[in-house]
Amino acid sequence: MGLFFCESHRVSLLIVSFLCSVSICSSLSSVSISETSNLTLVCALEPQRSSLNCASFPPGIQTPFNSNYSFSGIVSGEGFLCGLRPSFSSSNISVMHCWRFSSDGTTIEFKRIYEGPGLKQLDAGNSHICGLNETNALECWRWPGFNPTGDRSFSTIAVGEGFVCGLSEAGKIKCLGNVTGISGQEPRGNYSVIAAGFTHACAIGLDNDLECWGNTVGNKPQGKFKALALGQNRSCALRINETVVCWGENNFSLPEELGGYEFLSIEAKRNVFCGVLTFNYSLFCWGDTDFNSNFMVFSRVLPGPCRDSCPCGSLLGSGFLCNNVRSICQTCNTPVVPITPPPPSAPSPSSDLNGKMVAFLVVGCVGSFCWFLVVGFFVFRHCKGRGCRVHDSGPLDETGRPDNAVPNQPQSPQVPSAPAVLEKRLSQLTSMGNTGRLEEFSLQALIQATNNFSEDHKVGTGSFGSVYHATLDDGREVAIKRAEITCTASYAIGTKRQEDKDNAFVNELEYLSRLHHKNLVRLLGFCEDSNERVLVYEYMDNGTLHDHLHKFQDSPFMSWAVRLKIASDAARGIEYLHEYAVPPIIHRDIKSSNILLDGNWSAKVSDFGLSLLGPGDDESHLSLRAAGTVGYMDPEYYRLQQLTTKSDVYSFGVVLLELLSGCKAIHRNENGAPRNVIDFVVPYILRDEIHRVLDPRVPPPTPFEIEAVAYVGYLAADCIRPEGRDRPSMTEIVNSLDKAFAACLLPPALSRSSTDSST
Ligand SMILES: *[C@@H]1O[C@H](CO)[C@@H](O)[C@H](O)[C@H]1NC(C)=O
Ligand SMILES: *[C@@H]1O[C@H](CO)[C@@H](O)[C@H](O)[C@H]1NC(C)=O
Ligand SMILES: *[C@@H]1O[C@H](CO)[C@@H](O)[C@H](O)[C@H]1NC(C)=O
Ligand SMILES: *[C@@H]1O[C@H](CO)[C@@H](O)[C@H](O)[C@H]1NC(C)=O
Ligand SMILES: *[C@@H]1O[C@H](CO)[C@@H](O)[C@H](O)[C@H]1NC(C)=O
Ligand SMILES: *[C@@H]1O[C@H](CO)[C@@H](O)[C@H](O)[C@H]1NC(C)=O
Ligand SMILES: *[C@@H]1O[C@H](CO)[C@@H](O)[C@H](O)[C@H]1NC(C)=O
Ligand SMILES: *[C@@H]1O[C@H](CO)[C@@H](O)[C@H](O)[C@H]1NC(C)=O
Ligand SMILES: *[C@@H]1O[C@H](CO)[C@@H](O)[C@H](O)[C@H]1NC(C)=O
Ligand SMILES: *[C@@H]1O[C@H](CO)[C@@H](O)[C@H](O)[C@H]1NC(C)=O
Repeated sequence: MGLFFCESHRVSLLIVSFLCSVSICSSLSSVSISETSNLTLVCALEPQRSSLNCASFPPGIQTPFNSNYSFSGIVSGEGFLCGLRPSFSSSNISVMHCWRFSSDGTTIEFKRIYEGPGLKQLDAGNSHICGLNETNALECWRWPGFNPTGDRSFSTIAVGEGFVCGLSEAGKIKCLGNVTGISGQEPRGNYSVIAAGFTHACAIGLDNDLECWGNTVGNKPQGKFKALALGQNRSCALRINETVVCWGENNFSLPEELGGYEFLSIEAKRNVFCGVLTFNYSLFCWGDTDFNSNFMVFSRVLPGPCRDSCPCGSLLGSGFLCNNVRSICQTCNTPVVPITPPPPSAPSPSSDLNGKMVAFLVVGCVGSFCWFLVVGFFVFRHCKGRGCRVHDSGPLDETGRPDNAVPNQPQSPQVPSAPAVLEKRLSQLTSMGNTGRLEEFSLQALIQATNNFSEDHKVGTGSFGSVYHATLDDGREVAIKRAEITCTASYAIGTKRQEDKDNAFVNELEYLSRLHHKNLVRLLGFCEDSNERVLVYEYMDNGTLHDHLHKFQDSPFMSWAVRLKIASDAARGIEYLHEYAVPPIIHRDIKSSNILLDGNWSAKVSDFGLSLLGPGDDESHLSLRAAGTVGYMDPEYYRLQQLTTKSDVYSFGVVLLELLSGCKAIHRNENGAPRNVIDFVVPYILRDEIHRVLDPRVPPPTPFEIEAVAYVGYLAADCIRPEGRDRPSMTEIVNSLDKAFAACLLPPALSRSSTDSST
């Protein structure tokens, strides 16, 4: 069971063994055996895809595993199977997923038991799992009470039942745990391979000699060895010439039929032993009556974990098996052996790509495919209100301030005193050079462009007024936001309030004119004239994300690559508000209808000026507005009234869930009852079953995309965590989305739609 394996290959003769130090052998495996009281589950990673393939003996365990996921290694024990996967956010981060099954295999639970700094090695005994992190420190799971003190640094490990043994850098053996005859009985000397069984352990020395201790059963064989697989009172060892010898309880031995077969690696758990044939990478198992007549379990498996680098060279042809990005390492300490033919040549490369290489393909993907998308669409720009912001141009003299009051007196900066002040500030603003790029439009020009704000030009309504699409005289297409002329409220709330509003308006313009980012909708200018207050924005040809997700049947959004690209754009815009705007801006109303798409399908965040208005206005729609939009609202903000940038992160998480599932933030379930997208989607994400809730209008993710999509699912789940401090920053989100986006290959269908024009 304590499995251990060293990858190697005969052609390794070219490798000068002594160049490498001891213990290069890895305790990460591409083959695992787990048992319940009456079932055996043999799993192996498939070549190229590194996806999981399992067979139950006798049939009983239904494999619920998503066959599209790729793993860097697998381990298993009694009633469980765990797979290690690299995270997208960093090759430094590992994620461990485990399935636990009942003894008859009928019930299966799924859990993510680890996500953290990268794990280089992983091994499991019957009950426990241990791994080594980047700094070679031992960490264990499913092992309550195990908390060894002292040096826990190893170069390789092997897990038994109640103990774990490791080799130090120098090749010294150290075993932790309380199994009589194991800890404290370690042989002295320098070793390169270690393996653990149920109650015994063995090691192979630098001279390839074998040493065993603990509850050893049977006589250990003589000869030179390079790998071991130990079960319960039974053992097998791989000779240097790649044949296997077995010994143990009841005269256990390798079945005669397999004598002379050459193996690349071997594994064991209790009574079952498996090995990968050198010749054709078939997986053969023995030791149990299940395998008496037919040893072959899988015709072709990944012979070892794919690695970034191999200190002593890689298995010939393994680049292909690992999609030419990584390779399978061979053992370093293999002495020179006669040359035998390499394994059969691999089939021609398929389009089937391993998820782990995604990161490496990224650049190509980005450069060549993912940025194009030009589709002509016309959509309206949905706008949101910010209350009645109509400027009352009536006489303000009533306040008693002189018309020629000095603008912006330091002691009362919030209270400009008169229209003259306002005008002065506005004119300052318009003439501010590079910071004030704002243009002042004449009301006349806007009236003309919109045919006196006619319904024909109206493309949307917000709570504060209407939005019009217009083409200006100079040919520019713009979106015009015009406040409603219902200013009774303004009159009613008094002149003082009105002054505040005037000031807020100018302040906002001032801020907005300074914000310049390709993922923020650009404010071009304003119009400030008698009863009118109008903002003029760049026109976004392709409307809102919300409409593409929830309204249009025929949208170019039916691809995961496009959706991730949109998410990444929008995240950049928000990141700019949080990290680069001075002072930082909290948007407060991130939602899919505030993410707009320009003619090139770049996403831009709109309405980011909201927070600048500041609270303090007790008009109900403003307070409502301050709290955001139902379905997107950060519960922490709502509860504690503490506004941080993490509130935007929460709302953005909801947008990500919309993008993945195609469901509105609040939508109706099959029975017509209202349902929150978080409640619906996140449980699936956490069970690693996101494929069940992905937007059915988008073609199912390719094996290539599924990794990226699942990863974004986890990202969304992190964004909507209840405590703001647990959520990632927008910068982290941008980085993660970029990686995920890059991971996708655009399906051919998308290139077709790129020339589409609709609506
Ligand atoms: C791992 O992460 C650290 C810091 O997060 C970084 O400095 C290092 O380069 C990363 N290593 C790899 C192999 O990505
Ligand atoms: C496995 O064993 C349990 C009891 O030990 C039994 O109820 C069950 O039917 C067995 N399942 C199979 C598939 O043999
Ligand atoms: C590895 O684990 C040890 C002990 O838990 C910890 O101190 C160390 O920081 C970890 N290394 C990495 C790279 O996470
Ligand atoms: C070792 O044995 C002691 C006493 O039996 C027990 O308290 C402890 O948890 C055991 N440690 C391990 C790692 O099993
Ligand atoms: C083991 O290795 C150390 C250095 O790594 C060396 O000093 C020592 O002599 C070696 N012991 C044996 C028995 O080879
Ligand atoms: C086989 O292993 C079991 C459990 O480890 C042990 O109780 C038993 O004594 C072993 N058999 C022999 C012959 O040692
Ligand atoms: C491998 O080595 C063993 C022991 O040295 C020997 O008995 C066996 O014939 C060899 N097999 C091959 C295929 O060389
Ligand atoms: C194991 O083999 C020996 C000698 O071949 C034989 O005497 C013994 O009975 C065998 N034991 C079992 C349990 O088959
Ligand atoms: C691999 O080779 C073995 C031994 O030659 C053979 O029995 C097995 O059928 C081969 N596997 C496949 C898939 O052909
Ligand atoms: C795996 O990907 C293929 C191709 O994209 C898809 O047809 C299949 O449904 C996916 N399987 C799962 C379990 O997601």
